[in-house]
Amino acid sequence: MRIDVLTLFPAMFQGPMTESMLWKARDRGLLDLRLHDIRDFTTDKHRTADDIPYGGGGGMIMKAEPVVSAVEHTLADAAPGTPVLLMTPQGRVFNHQIAKALAGYERLVFVCGRYEGIDDRVRQLVITDELSIGDYVLTGGELPAMVMIDALVRHIPGVLGAEGAADSDSHADGVLEGPHFTRPPVFRGLAVPQVLQEGDHARVARWRREQGLRRTWQQRPDLLLRAALSEDERYLLATFADEDARR
Ligand code: ADE
Repeated sequence: MRIDVLTLFPAMFQGPMTESMLWKARDRGLLDLRLHDIRDFTTDKHRTADDIPYGGGGGMIMKAEPVVSAVEHTLADAAPGTPVLLMTPQGRVFNHQIAKALAGYERLVFVCGRYEGIDDRVRQLVITDELSIGDYVLTGGELPAMVMIDALVRHIPGVLGAEGAADSDSHADGVLEGPHFTRPPVFRGLAVPQVLQEGDHARVARWRREQGLRRTWQQRPDLLLRAALSEDERYLLATFADEDARR
C-alpha cells in the first residue's frame, strides 16, 4: 500500500514512522510512505502557505492553491477513487472499522491541516472524506494522520506476526480483549489465572471471551449496544448485571 502525506511539518513524522511495526512494514515493502512538504507547492519567493481570514477573526488560514496543487500532483498517477482524507476535528470519528476499510485501498492521501483552519475550497475541490481522532482540537492534523496510519497499517496482511491478529483486537467485534499475562506465574502475590497456566485451548478461548465481555461491561458498556453477541454471551451479560445489582 502507498500512503502520501501532505504536511507543512514532514519532520514530525520522523520517529513514529521510522520505528517498530511501521518501520518493519516499510522495510518489508508492505507500506510505501511518502511525505510531501506543502511549502514545496507554493509559488512565491517567501513560500507562503497561509494567509489572514476573509471576514476577520484571529489566526491564519492555510491557502488553497498549494494544498490543491500538492493533492493534484500526488494523484497524477493514482487510480480514480483514491481517498483523499482531510484531518479535521469536524470529521467522522475514526475507529477500528474505518481503519480496516482504509487498509483495503492500494493508495491513500492524508492532508494535514494547520493553523486555525484550511481554505474551505480545498475541501470542496479535492477532499473525499474528513476524519477526526476525537472530540478535542489539536494544533494540526499531523498527529491524527500518524494515529490513523499506525492503526490501519496493522490491518495490511503480513504486517502483524500472526495472520489475523488484528481481528482479535479490542474493538474488532465491539468487545474489548480480556487481560494478558506473561511470566512469572506469581508477581507480588498476584497469580496468573489457573486456566491460562493449564493451557487447555478451548477453555482458554472461552475464558478470554468471558473476561473480554466482563471488561467491556465494566469499562465501555456503550460498545455492547452494537456488539455481535451470541445468546450465551447475552446470558452472561445478564449475570454481570445481576451481580452488580446484588452488590
Ligand atoms: N486537527 C485538529 N484536531 C484534530 C482532531 N481531533 N482530529 C483530526 N484532525 C485534527
